[in-house]
Amino acid sequence: MALLNYLTTNHFDFGAIARLPKEMARLGVSRPLIATDKGIVGAGLLARITDQIEDGAALPVFDRTPSNPTEVAVMEAVDLYSAEKCDGVIALGGGSAMDLGKAVALIAGSGGPLERFDPAQKGTRNMTKVAPVIAVPTTSGTGSEVSVGIIIIMKDGRKATFAGPKLIPQSAICDPELTLGLPPHLTAATGMDAITHCIEAFLSPMVNPPADGVALDGLWRAWRALPAAVENGEDREARWNMMMASTEGAMAFIKGLGAVHSMSHSAGRLPDLNLHHGTLNAVLLPPVLRFNAPGQEERYERLRQAMGLQPGADIAAALEDYNRTIGMPKNLAEMGLTADRVGALVPFAVSDLATRTNARPIGAEDFEALYREML
Ligand SMILES: [Fe+2]
Repeated sequence: MALLNYLTTNHFDFGAIARLPKEMARLGVSRPLIATDKGIVGAGLLARITDQIEDGAALPVFDRTPSNPTEVAVMEAVDLYSAEKCDGVIALGGGSAMDLGKAVALIAGSGGPLERFDPAQKGTRNMTKVAPVIAVPTTSGTGSEVSVGIIIIMKDGRKATFAGPKLIPQSAICDPELTLGLPPHLTAATGMDAITHCIEAFLSPMVNPPADGVALDGLWRAWRALPAAVENGEDREARWNMMMASTEGAMAFIKGLGAVHSMSHSAGRLPDLNLHHGTLNAVLLPPVLRFNAPGQEERYERLRQAMGLQPGADIAAALEDYNRTIGMPKNLAEMGLTADRVGALVPFAVSDLATRTNARPIGAEDFEALYREML
């Protein structure tokens, strides 16, 4: 039986950030912790948020979110939340800051440690209460502002996914204005995360045709808008469409993701390389689509329609061309990954939550071959 369940609340448009005080009042939040990172603060985006709130400059701020959020950083932010007697979270930034903010709200509501919520141990049922979260994305890719998930690097080195309906922020404020200053390489990398969400969610075998429709609309938008947003960051229509595609990608991946994300999560946890999630997805998407192709003729044809490709066109090759156009690397070697690391990546990819919903069954040998193919 299919479960079709949408719970998101999203204020979306240029200028939407002005809704922030109303959303705080609606959710009963008077002293939020602002979870963000130093890049956001440096870009002047924190001030754009606090300017909306009376005495906003005096609010507690946790700005030490790492580029891939860690359990250690989550616990530091939880300490600040408690010390400052906060009553909610404003999660401001890209996926990392939003995921960190969502994790803080989870622990504030249900108690820690994070390990208690591990879905492999049926931990989702321990998510009894989550403090109110208002998510304000500053990139267009992750969609964490409407997603059921968070991804955190645990103390034991795993890049763990936690998922549950209570992790959907009570409010998302999507203001494309906040993305106008995003530099081209981050626009491209985060945008490829959104495109990968739409494609992998659409190909997931879970039955959810409404989510499929959302995924295809997101792909349609992002495929056309991303090169324009990379070319000219001030292109407001392209920024609007990318932010919408990002939100749609995350609404769609309520169906789950696939092997691109399994491999990307595994490689993304290596602390010395600190590889960008969206860039990894961009590089891994073409070979995984070649692997997944058998038996997917109708689904691939629908992807081609959304992407404006000819019937029967090689989707993986089109993505390789696209990656080149927007400045993504050609392979994992270009990103600094070496052959001696592959063996250690495979078990993490196998056990990743996204592996369960890949378009076709995939195992350790397949992951190993795909990693090696991309070196
Ligand atoms: Fe992703």
